[in-house]
Amino acid sequence: MMEILLVGGNGAIGKAMRNEYLSLKNKVTILSRKPVEDDSALMTSHLYDYENPGELNIEEGKKFDLIIFATGHLHNHKYKPEKSIKDIEESALSFSYLINCIAPLCLIKKLSDQIKNNTKIVFLSARVGSISDNNLGGWYAYRMSKAALNMMIKNLSIELGRRYKESIIMGLHPGTVESKLSAPFVSHVNHEVFTPNDSARKLIKVIENLKKQDTGKILDYAGNKIEW
Ligand SMILES: NC(=O)c1ccc[n+]([C@@H]2O[C@H](COP(=O)([O-])OP(=O)(O)OC[C@H]3O[C@@H](n4cnc5c(N)ncnc54)[C@H](OP(=O)(O)O)[C@@H]3O)[C@@H](O)[C@H]2O)c1
Repeated sequence: MMEILLVGGNGAIGKAMRNEYLSLKNKVTILSRKPVEDDSALMTSHLYDYENPGELNIEEGKKFDLIIFATGHLHNHKYKPEKSIKDIEESALSFSYLINCIAPLCLIKKLSDQIKNNTKIVFLSARVGSISDNNLGGWYAYRMSKAALNMMIKNLSIELGRRYKESIIMGLHPGTVESKLSAPFVSHVNHEVFTPNDSARKLIKVIENLKKQDTGKILDYAGNKIEW
């Protein structure tokens, strides 16, 4: 049985991972913006909003085997992904950086007592955060903030790796997955679109098979490395 912290346990992929890990009899602590509707005795949940974070009320002394960040922002009622430089808005860029990179890093700072020698920390990133894979352009705020997340992951893997020798800190691309985040765009893709459950099962398999040499890397749902 693992002790798992899942940040964003109400999102499409986050919820599917939560259900899968609970069905495998792991203990799951959820951080989410809205209360979680689930009465599993294996689950504890706390409210946590990146825009107004406040205190973290996790039980003192609790150490996690696995910490997953399943949060992310691409669009909301105010901001849409940019098609061109004409669409650039400073506040939209700042907001994407906040949700996709800055707030997760600030949360990691608060979790320093919850990490142990062999904790795995996994961030859901995105293939579009890869600089070498960018052949289409557009989506400035999302692409840039995910590239920044990837740098954060690499940095964190170096620093935490010095103190926690068996730790693995890495990023995962979940594939294109049916969710609120992808809904306006899935009809345009010409590859497979996963259900959240399919993606969650694939991601869990990759997480299970992680080796120390994967720390600092970004892998996709099939375990293949994504170049920077
Ligand atoms: N779906 C895809 O095709 C796809 C592809 C590549 C990468 N990804 C990545 O996968 C991750 C999960 O996305 P998803 O598809 O599951 O989307 P989703 O269903 O929209 O979930 C997004 C998650 O982020 C949380 N979140 C958003 N803004 C937040 C804020 N201000 N404070 C705290 N939490 C916030 C949401 O919380 P609420 O539930 O409270 O809204 C939700 O848990 C993201 O990092 C995304 O970039 C997804």
